[in-house]
Amino acid sequence: MAKLIIVSNRLPIKLQEKEGELVYQTSEGGLATGLGSIYKEGNNLWIGWPGLVIEEQHKQQKIIHDLQSENMYPVFLTETEIKEFYEGFSNETLWPTFHYFSQYAIYEQQLWETYMAVNQKYCDEIVAQAEPEDTIWVHDYQLLLLPSMLRERLPNSTIGFFQHIPFPSYEVFRLLPWRKEILEGMLGSDLIGFHTYDDMRHFLSSVNRIIGHGSMHGWINTGTRSLLVDSFPMGIDYDKYAAVAASEEVKRRQAIYQANLNSQKIILSIDRLDYSKGIPQRLLAFELFLEKYPEFLEKVTLVMLVVPSRDAVGKYKELKEEVDELVGRINGKYSNINWNPIQYFYRSYPLETLSAFYRMADVALVTPMRDGMNLVCKEFVASKLDKRGVLILSEMAGASKELSEALLINPNDINQLVDAIHKALIMPEEEQEQHMVLMQESLRRYNIHHWVSMFMDRLSYVKIKQLSLATSYLDEATFHEMSDAYETASTRLFFLEYDGALVKYSSKPDMARPDAELIELLSRLNSDPKNKVVVVSSREKDNMQEWLGHVPVDLVAEHGVWIKQNSTGWQTMMSLMDDWKSDIKLILDLYVDRTPGSFIEEKEYSLVWHYRRVETGLGELRARELVSHLNFLASNSNLQVLDGQMAVEVKAQEVSKGRATAHWLNQYPHEFIVAIGDDWGDEDIFKAMPRDAYTIKVGNSYSVAKYHVDSCGEVRSLLSRLLQLKASEQPQEMS
Ligand code: UDP
Ligand code: G6P
Repeated sequence: MAKLIIVSNRLPIKLQEKEGELVYQTSEGGLATGLGSIYKEGNNLWIGWPGLVIEEQHKQQKIIHDLQSENMYPVFLTETEIKEFYEGFSNETLWPTFHYFSQYAIYEQQLWETYMAVNQKYCDEIVAQAEPEDTIWVHDYQLLLLPSMLRERLPNSTIGFFQHIPFPSYEVFRLLPWRKEILEGMLGSDLIGFHTYDDMRHFLSSVNRIIGHGSMHGWINTGTRSLLVDSFPMGIDYDKYAAVAASEEVKRRQAIYQANLNSQKIILSIDRLDYSKGIPQRLLAFELFLEKYPEFLEKVTLVMLVVPSRDAVGKYKELKEEVDELVGRINGKYSNINWNPIQYFYRSYPLETLSAFYRMADVALVTPMRDGMNLVCKEFVASKLDKRGVLILSEMAGASKELSEALLINPNDINQLVDAIHKALIMPEEEQEQHMVLMQESLRRYNIHHWVSMFMDRLSYVKIKQLSLATSYLDEATFHEMSDAYETASTRLFFLEYDGALVKYSSKPDMARPDAELIELLSRLNSDPKNKVVVVSSREKDNMQEWLGHVPVDLVAEHGVWIKQNSTGWQTMMSLMDDWKSDIKLILDLYVDRTPGSFIEEKEYSLVWHYRRVETGLGELRARELVSHLNFLASNSNLQVLDGQMAVEVKAQEVSKGRATAHWLNQYPHEFIVAIGDDWGDEDIFKAMPRDAYTIKVGNSYSVAKYHVDSCGEVRSLLSRLLQLKASEQPQEMS
């Protein structure tokens, strides 16, 4: 049975060696919680580094054995690999570049080579564990090359990739000497996820500028395969944080800490030690705040937890010294026997302690210079059971796109930060509550489980879509099969799209008149009594009448609103349907789930999906996607989709091209059918066709058609060749 393999640089455990014994500590990280319910199921697996360099064979075997029952499989990295792959390329080349600190980035060929080799090592380990049909979900910047390596070895597997850190603008990304190889590595995926629409947009633009693949609605066609890029803002395990905050143990810890801090206001700051987190800038802002608002001296304390991280990397060492020095200076300047303005802890804490800090903080100061998402701010909000407290949040954190009720600041603007601290400390409780309630509602809904299921659902959707959209070129073998069917059939229907299939597109629509060759071809085709030819168009009926009214073929104009049969007059196709709402509502609900800030309005004769409160850009993107999704579905119903101002409206309306063609299918016998179209609107026609119809798309893009050809010229020659069959048949009949 196909299984799910999760791959990340680190396994969701911390392995330690204490007095010669191996000790495993489970990780409480958001990812481990979110995926916990999945990777422990059946024979699913999580593959990654256990966090320690283990070289002895027997120890490695023991670890493999110990982890097996936990559905984990370790990848062992050597001392050199940790230095060159993890500390080096991952954290001294990619991390600074992706966080807009490219001045810190080092470009060394040796580091790149080890990065490639370690990605290959992960690939080998996965291939040894995987079956061809498995789903593999790769995480984060340490493994950017893995999707393509896996694709080469397991071409049919389903591969998802999620990047937890930002994706920088093209102008920054292009600085990397290995930019092309990195993008090509990622493009082996079926689905690539980012936290925000901006990350996704930057990625698509880099792919376009560096590799030359464009995109539509997040789909990239590499020429050999199609993949989707989308945004999935990662949430937290909301209920867990709320429950821990309500526990007696946490209340007990809070009481102890609070007693030590007297009745002071508390500003909380929690991060890994990282230059992307803006710790020195935050300290300077706090210092300026004390200077500017001396009435808060002895009344406020900054509780600052800094978790040691990547301390073998030079820039992190320097940062540690800088932070120590700043804290020392500020405390030295303001402390007295009763009060230290900054309580600084350089260590990591368990969940219960963090929860107690979250509960007691009046203000959370989360001011990264750049952050993919930032979970600390979400955990703070979820822990505020009394709905009091203020979040000051950097615009540069992915979370700011969702938490627009926080006090949003630019971390480079020290004066804005100082004012925000002041505003937060004096904010009336009622106002605090208003903001907190809205943020909690959003975080409760868009939680970590929601994130996992959205990603996995989307990944399955991509796979289905890829299969359903695959068309094969109409080659000679197919043509022979088609001509046999043509010759043996006594009733034949042809649905031929006008613009793009029978005539080339012209920059001016009025210029695309039918030429003599086309008119002759259509007339000859229709003159066979076994054939019925229908030319389908979205053009106005008067236009169709003028150009083709004299040709003995049937016509469809204005997407199927008008039809003309057997050289009689034009008729309109109207029918009403009113039972569509519940089905369409399910689809709109899916878009609300995927798009924080959007909502549905139900009117008597229509449903409206509004996106005016959605992150700029993401709303427009989802709207385009929704419009095409709905149009696709509406092919067999009587609905119209309107792409309006910050809203997409669906209402009962006219027929579609698909419905119009169904009219002929119902009226005429058809042993042989050819339907040819070229753009997305023609998909309705293909969908309306019976299974054995020859559905042909002009151009090799997504289609439900079975076959494709490359040009209008090929369409015409295909039709002529069918007519020639008839011609070569005639002498035989006569003899
Ligand atoms: N964290 C922790 N112990 C600590 C401090 C932080 O377990 O002493 C956790 C915190 O609860 C959060 C994570 O570390 O879940 C930090 O995630 P975030 O996205 O904020 O930053 P990252 O470190 O991933 O850049
Ligand atoms: C960020 C990255 C993760 C990484 C974590 C801790 O959250 O996105 O991939 O695991 O930081 O960093 P570390 O270098 O200790 O794994």
